[in-house]
Amino acid sequence: MTTTKDLTVWDVLEQQLRTEIALTWNPEGPVVLAIDSEKGGVGKSGLAGGLIAVMAASGRRVLGIDLDPRATLTAELGADTESLLKELGEEGPEATQYGVNDLLYEDREADPDDLPQLSGLAEVALRPASKAWGNNVRVLAAERALANREDDNATPALEHRLRISLEGVAEQFDLVVIDLPPRAGGKLVGAGLLAATHVLFPGTLNEDGLVGVRDAMRTYKFMARANPTKLRRVGVLRNIVEPKTKLAKYYDDKFSEEFGAEVITTAVPKRVIRQEARGACVPITAAADKSDAKDLINSYTRVLNAVGSAV
Ligand SMILES: Nc1ncnc2c1ncn2[C@@H]1O[C@H](COP(=O)(O)OP(=O)(O)O)[C@@H](O)[C@H]1O
Ligand SMILES: [Mg+2]
Repeated sequence: MTTTKDLTVWDVLEQQLRTEIALTWNPEGPVVLAIDSEKGGVGKSGLAGGLIAVMAASGRRVLGIDLDPRATLTAELGADTESLLKELGEEGPEATQYGVNDLLYEDREADPDDLPQLSGLAEVALRPASKAWGNNVRVLAAERALANREDDNATPALEHRLRISLEGVAEQFDLVVIDLPPRAGGKLVGAGLLAATHVLFPGTLNEDGLVGVRDAMRTYKFMARANPTKLRRVGVLRNIVEPKTKLAKYYDDKFSEEFGAEVITTAVPKRVIRQEARGACVPITAAADKSDAKDLINSYTRVLNAVGSAV
């Protein structure tokens, strides 16, 4: 077997992009995958959207949870209030009533006995993704106000609320993907990691990518101490990989040096069509006839296979 040590990321990509691969998704139990880096711009949301697209195109049921107040994933999935109101007409207002912020927040003025049960509460906040994503994608949408949860010291057990509200709900999906905010060890990251069963660390081959993974792993280790459901790490994913330059090669070596066997033997290349798909709010699988989109679909499929077989 070759390890990532023997091969540069460009060797890996050259081999893999030539060979199409099938999705072999057969994990035991529900997978709640957190996409984690403490830096922005390393492709967390892009990866989340890509994994969701490939799962949905294979007929699986997927839930995207957006924990980033910038709501990038929510917008790409067409699940922001404005898009859904436009698309759903009369059903719009009901579908867009709640988002992930409502699951994390508690009104301390309320009578606790009058409040709905928290376990399973995520059900009422599930939004459909826009039609372009098909019928089997649901979203727990982010909004600006979600940023207030970071310094919310009034809501009891805030960091446990996502996990509890997903009880009986996560099981309805083949995969749940949590897009985390790039914030060092904050409450939103905590809520995501306590709800997750698996964690994947994407990093671009530059200083931000390296530091983002390093810091996220540190926080992960603290959070794993508090997660009774054994949070598995899938590993480190080299993401948005550009053509080989001296600098990129330097960082590829740094990734091997610092993360060793945690670096998974696949990577996601940089392809402009990924940005175009996001701009158009359509899944990358909708462009499957284009070779650049094929490269991305191939890579996302390999990442999913790595997630599904992580133990
Ligand atoms: N594989 C890719 N190829 C090219 N561009 C990408 C790819 N993945 C993400 N991007 C783009 O890179 C930028 C940063 O990605 P994003 O997912 O928003 O990062 P993060 O969520 O970590 O802040 C965005 O403009 C996004 O469209
Ligand atoms: Mg993002």
